[in-house]
Amino acid sequence: MSPLTQLFETAKSARERAYAPYSKFQVGAAIRTKGGKIIAGCNVENAAFPEGVCAEGGAISAMVLAGETEIAEVLVIADAEHCSPCGGCRQKIREFAGDDVLVHIADLNEVKKTYTMADLLPAGFELKKKV
Ligand code: THU
Repeated sequence: MSPLTQLFETAKSARERAYAPYSKFQVGAAIRTKGGKIIAGCNVENAAFPEGVCAEGGAISAMVLAGETEIAEVLVIADAEHCSPCGGCRQKIREFAGDDVLVHIADLNEVKKTYTMADLLPAGFELKKKV
């Protein structure tokens, strides 16, 4: 299985676990880390709508918990033509991804579009880290 197919299949399985009773819009995400791990996330909604978490945010939390902080590639999947990460998620991904990192957008069958991180979030907010 190619690395991209592995990312696709992982995100697709994660999407099946999505908790989206309010929107009925299930989303899966998978991150390949520079350390070679594949980490999944799904959206988790809440009756208090703003408390819901996007699939990308869930995957990032799991990635950090797994001890990884460098993203190599991301794939987002939904039963939609173009489920592009929201603005907040772009900033969340940017924290751990350089300009050249690829973000693939897939429907349930295949990748439909691929962006670089620089395409998705030019001029993202950055802050000097304290040592
Ligand atoms: N959602 C994601 O999880 N990721 C995206 O990239 C776009 C939107 C979720 C949030 C909410 O649970 C549902 O999709 C509808 O907006």
